[in-house]
Amino acid sequence: MHSSSNRRVGFIGIVVGVVAVAGVLSAQADKQAVTKMHEHLSQVTTLDYAVIRGDVDDAKAAAKAIADGMSMAGLPPAAEKYLAEVRTAANAAATGADLKAVAAGAGALQAACGNCHAGLGHSLTVSMDALKEGAPSTRNRMREHAWSVEALAKGLQGPSDDLWKNGANSMKKARVIKVQLKDPQLSAEINTAEEQFRALGDKARDAKDQAARTTVYGEILNTCGHCHSLQGRVFGPAAPK
Ligand code: HEC
Ligand code: HEC
Repeated sequence: MHSSSNRRVGFIGIVVGVVAVAGVLSAQADKQAVTKMHEHLSQVTTLDYAVIRGDVDDAKAAAKAIADGMSMAGLPPAAEKYLAEVRTAANAAATGADLKAVAAGAGALQAACGNCHAGLGHSLTVSMDALKEGAPSTRNRMREHAWSVEALAKGLQGPSDDLWKNGANSMKKARVIKVQLKDPQLSAEINTAEEQFRALGDKARDAKDQAARTTVYGEILNTCGHCHSLQGRVFGPAAPK
């Protein structure tokens, strides 16, 4: 299954695009090398969007591109350990046997960002606009879900305890309004999955460290992708703009 271009949405970027880097690592490293690494890593967004759509093939291709492209060239030895973590996560996603495994790798990749930032003493200051609630509709509910996922992703990337907690709380508060679509089976699936989504919010809230959060993040992506692929067409965000 491949991206349906007519479903492109204003799904806010999970990753803060291309990055200008300063600080300890770049002081020791070729600044361009660090910038290049981050440009390369911006494919993490492509990966997560593909998982959310339930598009295993696209997700694996994005993960493989990340694994293949990571290079130590120009980076200081201190970065090696974290690049290895990036590669391991990307390889796990690229070779995952199913959506769940690919989603787990994608989660580990988001965490690898934050582990490097924290490990090198450069945790990021990340922030997000508050969630805007729209009229109760499936589509607005999906936009709320997308907001939650973005907050959780940034919570891992920073790492940022606050953003993680905001994301978890927004899941717990997610509006579960019973939908009545023309297709009764689809309505039932959505309503059940919404309850599961809120339950995952509890799990996200209870996950106190980066490792536990990584696991939950993968599970959440898997939940999105599972339902979107069930519908027999690719819902959700297309490739990032
Ligand atoms: C191998 C280490 C490493 C990895 C992996 C890594 N980063 Fe970074 N990142 C850094 C360093 C070092 C900085 C510079 C911090 C500073 O300037 O204070 C940085 C800075 C940033 C910044 C802020 C740039 C700015 O202008 O302030 C963002 C955003 C960022 N990284 C995103 C990411 C994302 C997203 C990922 C994962 C997909 C990631 N990084 C993976 C080391 C890493
Ligand atoms: C139980 C099924 C189900 C689950 C779970 C689910 N979605 Fe959806 N999603 C849908 C359906 C159905 C649509 C199409 C809605 C429409 O067009 O009215 C959709 C559409 C979307 C869209 C496009 C909205 C738009 O503006 O057109 C986004 C973005 C989205 N989902 C994100 C997510 C994210 C992120 C998650 C997980 C946190 C998620 N969804 C979980 C069923 C689901």
